[in-house]
Amino acid sequence: ERVTFDYSIAKKFISDEEVRMIEKTVENARNELVGKSGAGNDFLGWIDLPVNYDKEEFARIKKAAGKIQSDSEVLLVIGIGGSYLGARAAIESLRHSFYNSVSKEIRKTPEIYYVGNNISSTYIRHLIEVIGDRDFSINMISKSGTTTEPAIAFRVFKKLLIEKYGKEEAAKRIYATTDKSRGALKNLATEEGYESFVVPDDVGGRFSVLTAVGLLPIAVSGADITKLMEGAASQRERCLNDGFTDNDSMKYAAIRNILLRKGKNIEILANYEPSLHYVSEWWKQLYGESEGKDQKGIFPASVDLTTDLHSMGQFIQDGQRTMFETVINLEKQKHEIVLEEEEVDLDGLNYLAGKTVDFMNKSAMKGTILAHTDGNVPNLVVNLPEENEYYIGQLFYFFEFACGLSGYMLGVNPFDQPGVESYKKNMFALLGKPGFEDQREELLKRL
Ligand code: PA5
Repeated sequence: ERVTFDYSIAKKFISDEEVRMIEKTVENARNELVGKSGAGNDFLGWIDLPVNYDKEEFARIKKAAGKIQSDSEVLLVIGIGGSYLGARAAIESLRHSFYNSVSKEIRKTPEIYYVGNNISSTYIRHLIEVIGDRDFSINMISKSGTTTEPAIAFRVFKKLLIEKYGKEEAAKRIYATTDKSRGALKNLATEEGYESFVVPDDVGGRFSVLTAVGLLPIAVSGADITKLMEGAASQRERCLNDGFTDNDSMKYAAIRNILLRKGKNIEILANYEPSLHYVSEWWKQLYGESEGKDQKGIFPASVDLTTDLHSMGQFIQDGQRTMFETVINLEKQKHEIVLEEEEVDLDGLNYLAGKTVDFMNKSAMKGTILAHTDGNVPNLVVNLPEENEYYIGQLFYFFEFACGLSGYMLGVNPFDQPGVESYKKNMFALLGKPGFEDQREELLKRL
């Protein structure tokens, strides 16, 4: 069993000839990626991460996670974008659906809250109330060490920590994940003596889930990060060595590129499990920031089903025909529920008695795949055998590798994000940051 890709249901939109024609292009993209000869080739550290990571730091991550588990009821994970979404995707997929609200006896590990991924004062205030007078620690994550959103949150919660524990003890409860030598956070960590973890120079934010960025919070949640790495390593083997026919990542990159050429410029990632919601958020960031540049790219969207069949489902079935859909099919449930028979069949559901709830979910999924296909939305399927560390590791690597290939096939550098700077410049100008005086005048005139 492993993560696999299947486009058989979409074959009426894609001819074998088209697939044959594109094979060479994907193969070239893989050579460029693995041979490190393409654009952004100083950001390819993620390719070997699952087998070539800092073992000493890995052990330190586990140790720090153990300390947080033993001395904190709450962990705050401060970060945004690639410094946030991977950890949340893994934790929500691997742990309890109601992780923070279920009893400590079931959860066994600290509550985990994410902050610094928005600039809402209400959110911050409410989080302060949730922490109350309980013991907490902070994992501050920023590769650059200068991103505004997490920096603001860090100021607020660092103060709270110092008020509660005093400066010295507070410093022992702050874990900084950042560049090995540069940036404001690194300076702060050195100055204050925070335990630090490194985001390697050659791993960009959205490809960093398998570095300390993702691994420390994931380990604190009680998930097994060794298995996560093993899963990613097994997928890496396939991605790097298998020929096109057996290479799921290459096939996924190929098919989405063929569909784009046919005008399908929106991809909707669909899940049928609430626990996969943040996998979709992680995926959107990975593909959106990697491909969306130079006026190119596939717009990555996502839906949670069957929930959104009662909202976005109408559009997918019947609206403008510019999209294709990639369904994550979770093959095996963690838990099963069987619907029981009722003596009087008032709700008319007795025909389902004895059937599992997952059988119904899968029937909804299969029915929807066919309906959307009939509505001219090509449906692709990514099969996920189970939600455990091994397969989630595989899934992360599967999507990362296909993303690198897709970027090269599109003719963009998938590893930069120049577009992210525009809003930052305007925000800094409006905030009155020194050095932005001229832009400030211009912007104020426009508002
Ligand atoms: O993928 C990326 O590079 C971005 O999404 C970054 O992760 C995000 O902007 C946060 O950056 P940093 O970790 O420097 O705070």
